[in-house]
Amino acid sequence: MIKFPKDFYFGSSTSAEQSEGRFEGDKKALTTWDKFYEVDKYKFYDLIGPSKTSSVYRRYKEDIDLYKKTGHSAFRTSISWARLIPDESGIVNEKAVAFYKDYFTRLKEENIEVMVNLFHFDMPLYLEEKYGGFVSKEVVYKYVEYAKTCFSLFSDIVKIWFTFNEPIVSVECGYLLQYHYPMEVDAKKATQVAYNMQLASSMATKEFHKIVKDGKIGIILNLTPAYPRSNNKYDIKAANIAELFASKSFLDPSVLGKYPDELINICKKHDILPEYTNDELEIIENNTVDILGINYYQPLRVSAKANMPNPEAEFMPSYYYDPYIMPGRRINKYRGWEIYPEGIYDIAMNIKKNYNNIPYIISENGMGVEDEKRFKKDGIIQDDYRIEFFKEHLEYLHKGIKEGSNCFGYLVWTGIDCWSWLNSYKNRYGLIELDLETSNRIIKKSGYWFNELNKNKGF
Ligand code: NOJ
Repeated sequence: MIKFPKDFYFGSSTSAEQSEGRFEGDKKALTTWDKFYEVDKYKFYDLIGPSKTSSVYRRYKEDIDLYKKTGHSAFRTSISWARLIPDESGIVNEKAVAFYKDYFTRLKEENIEVMVNLFHFDMPLYLEEKYGGFVSKEVVYKYVEYAKTCFSLFSDIVKIWFTFNEPIVSVECGYLLQYHYPMEVDAKKATQVAYNMQLASSMATKEFHKIVKDGKIGIILNLTPAYPRSNNKYDIKAANIAELFASKSFLDPSVLGKYPDELINICKKHDILPEYTNDELEIIENNTVDILGINYYQPLRVSAKANMPNPEAEFMPSYYYDPYIMPGRRINKYRGWEIYPEGIYDIAMNIKKNYNNIPYIISENGMGVEDEKRFKKDGIIQDDYRIEFFKEHLEYLHKGIKEGSNCFGYLVWTGIDCWSWLNSYKNRYGLIELDLETSNRIIKKSGYWFNELNKNKGF
């Protein structure tokens, strides 16, 4: 039997943009996603954009009941910046305050610990249009004001906070790979955005510690251990570089207060070092996080670029890994991603050894499945594959905890099936099915299993 500590959290995560809906709400301003859909809806699977969500804004009370039924002792979501502060005047939207207060309080009353993240890919459009989002330091300062507002308004209810979700994804997808607005390809801007987001996170952490005396703050990072595809020295070098850009670029400054020298040297060499000041570096150094949120889905399998004219050369950020899956690796056959539960153990050990054994929660782990309705029998999705996936990952996490890693909870992605960026509803992740026609919620087999998991604190 795999047993977790009594106070170990089990729950799920979602985000504002993916669950609240675009129009439902009382003065909510547009985000870059709302705009992106207006500009190019053909990029979105089945042409479904962010206006079609599970409508948490109207249905949160009913959803909290479902979280109870599926054994949640914790729940993570984000605040919509564009809803809370709908324009540049900075005036707070009272309707938004009332919504979040009631939402968070009701969760708390049901003994579900609320964990709140401040930014989950959803830049208010008015800040993107005027300043270019996190490319600009202005937006860093606006973000810090927004963070302070949130701490003052909600920290009596919310004790666990996060500054950003997967910031490296905003950087890569917005400025290298063209999956997020503004869909640019510009390595210099990418590093500037990464640095500015880190600065914003450290500044918010500093303010948090001034305002909140009985809470903890962290950052949520998608850690993707980078394994070389062979023992070839070039593949090993490429994997190290991938690790630097994909994981250490936020992990090191957030936890250790310092960027890795190697990363700085590569950026210098390629003339993509961001603009910074020594005062800012001091803020980063002195305001490290209390906790981490770690999202884990799959590792990186890295090879040196086969057609590099000179294999001794550095690899530029957009070329540094290869999603090719090595023969013998297990693949999620419903989605194409690799399944490698051992990765969660490697992360646990890495954090223990190299990052002061900082406390962390697995803030996302889960399995996306296409066309999941085909697994429906007797009105319920029989998602045994998902239960297996959770069990395997929990076994490896448990092994890490037994060996001294400091993990305090496990949140799956996600509770209720939610809208997912360009993929819309293509891959379903939830413990609870969302019927897109009726918006009805139906607990899946994994949801009932999850309830037992939390009851027994193990399986
Ligand atoms: C990571 C992100 O935080 C979330 O927004 C996304 O939908 C899930 N992973 C699933 O891919």
